[in-house]
Parts: sequence; structure tokens; C-alpha cells
Amino acid sequence: MYLHNNAVGLGQFQMKVQQLIDTARALVADDKGLLAMDESNPTCNKRFANLGIPQTEDARRAYREMILTTSGLGESISGVILYDETIHQRKKDGTPFIKAIIDSGIIPGIKVDTGANVLAGHPGEKITEGLDGLRDRLNEYFQMGARFAKWRAVIAIGDGIPSRGCVEANAHALARYAALCQEAGLVPVVEPEVLMDGAHTLERCREITGEVLRTVFCQLYAQRVILEGMILKPNMVLPGSTCSAEEEVSEVDVGEQQYQVRLTDRQEDEAQAVDEVADTTVRCLLRTVPAAVPGIAFLSGGQSCELASARLNAMNIRFKSRLPWALAFSFARAIQQPALEIWHGQDAHVLAAQQALHHRARCNRAARRGEYTVEMEGT
Ligand code: 13P
Repeated sequence: MYLHNNAVGLGQFQMKVQQLIDTARALVADDKGLLAMDESNPTCNKRFANLGIPQTEDARRAYREMILTTSGLGESISGVILYDETIHQRKKDGTPFIKAIIDSGIIPGIKVDTGANVLAGHPGEKITEGLDGLRDRLNEYFQMGARFAKWRAVIAIGDGIPSRGCVEANAHALARYAALCQEAGLVPVVEPEVLMDGAHTLERCREITGEVLRTVFCQLYAQRVILEGMILKPNMVLPGSTCSAEEEVSEVDVGEQQYQVRLTDRQEDEAQAVDEVADTTVRCLLRTVPAAVPGIAFLSGGQSCELASARLNAMNIRFKSRLPWALAFSFARAIQQPALEIWHGQDAHVLAAQQALHHRARCNRAARRGEYTVEMEGT
């Protein structure tokens, strides 16, 4: 039996499974979502460099303290995803970040992959690494207080890619990571990200996202991952960032049949475009994600803050009452970016930055309820 070995009695095993299920449910309860603040040092430094903020450990610490001390953050955020450097850091007054998080009623999580590297024999494709020594690292993070973990696989769409080899290798790594997490008592947040970069159509993104998710769930099944004790963190199904409107193709369901419709003037109606992304994304997920999974928490992937909220909102308005899983958020850029720009490395800007962060978190909680409106954005 998975998770169950001779060293652990059946009672303890059942308790451990129940704890995983409770944590997974808590992460998507009350219309809240996750805040990803687990940028690796190179990624965080790159975002700082773009704004002329010093790329030092203390600047990263101060930035994360600004986020974590945002008043009322826990009203909209159920869990935060930290990076290894951050989970070891403290507030200026000496309080460990992880204590401050738990004290504010938020569940701490941790990114545990070590990044994506070139996949041998597959030009233009990457494999996410970090399985070596992972069991020990997970046990350590659990002891520190983390209750969930994240691993991100990246799948690029392009000429002749993704290859089957890339999709399978990444899905296998995600499943091995997820099984190790559950063994350690951590809920795995399984993130297979199909990138938005490129000129591909919405339809191509739907096709690839569907293939990736089917492969991931086959591997999760093979590795005996308990679906009730995990969260899926997928991309929304979107046209590529450089896709021209004329290329855009939409899928339409008529009864059991699917038709592809070329829409040339679709982008002129923004609301319709938002609904189309919502419909395509949810239909893709309904065909690929088992009902036992308690929650789906989207990454934002480079969408604007407003579009990410509007699309999540449209999905919940149009489908919420008919879905087996919660549709939530696990955004990094689409929650943090305005706050980062306001903060700009300046102590004097902390309060204004926190207000911006709180606002985005609130907008996304509203989107979970289907209550987000453009009026919430003010002027
Ligand atoms: P974005 O929301 O900025 O895509 O980040 C989500 C994330 O956690 C990437 O791993």
C-alpha cells in the first residue's frame, strides 16, 4: 500500500493521508488562493535589475518581509510558496518568516525543484531537476513547518515541440516528486506549465495542455499519488503571446461533436475573448483532471494582472456550480508585480506596495466567487 510500510502502523498511515487531504482542501477553501513568492535568486534578481533595485540577499529579504507583513493578507491568501533562501530568513525584528506566516493563519509551502535544465537530445526543450536528495530536503522542510511543496515543469510550444520525450520525462519527474512529498506529509502542488511564449493558437495550446495533463495524471497514477491530497497548478489555455488574431481558431462543442471555427474578428470583443479562454480552459480540464483532485490553482504565466483575474472570474461564473474541483489561483507575477514596482527597494514605499498586493489578492478572491469586476480596479 502506498505511503504504508512496516515502520508505520495502519492507524498512523490513515492519519497521515487524512492530514494531506485536509491540507489540500484548506489550500482551496473559502475562495482563497495561493501566493507564489518562490522566485529563485536569479529570477528575483532579474526582476529587481529591471527596476534598478539592488540584487542582494538583504534586498530580497526586505522585499519578502514587505509581502509577508501585508495586513489582511490571510483574508484572501490560504498559502504562500517560499524559496529555500526565504524559508530560512527572518523579519527585521528577528521573527522567522515561517513563524510570521503560520501566526497569520497562512499555510507555508516551499518550492523544491532545482530548476529546468536543457533536456539532452531535445533541442529547445527542458527537464526540471531536483529529485536527488529530495526525500531528505522534504523531511527538513516539514520539520520547519512547511505543509505543501511545489515543482514546476516547463513545456514550450514551437516547431515540432513539445516532443513526446520531453512531456514524458517531465511528467515522470513530477509524479516522483509528488509521491515523495506525500510520503513526507507535504501536499504536492503539481505544476506542468505550458508556456505562453510563441505564435501558436489557442487551439494548439489546448491540444498540448490536454496531452500534457493526460500524461501527468497517468504518471501520478503509476507512482500511486493520492489525488485527494494534491493540488494541480496548470496554465490557463491561451493563445501564444505573439499569436496574431487572424490565426486564432476556436473549438466549439455541438453535442458530442467538436468543430473548429476560425474567428477573424474575435479580439474586437474583449469580453467574448475572455469567455472563450474560460470555456476552452475548463473544457480541457474537464477532459483531463480526475474529479478526486480537490483543487486547480492556476499560474499566471505572464498575463496582465487584470486579465488573469478576469479569466479566472469568467471560469467561475460560467462553470463553478458544475465543476468537481475548486478553480483557484497560485499567481506570482499577477499578484506581486504592481507591488514590486511601487516598493522599488524603498522602505518609504512599503505601505503603498502592501496596499497594491492586498488589492490584487482581493481581486483574485473575488474572481473565485465570480464577483470580480473592472470597477474593482478603480481608475
Ligand atoms: P506566475 O504566476 O508569475 O506565472 O508564477 C507562478 C509560478 O509559481 C511559477 O512557478
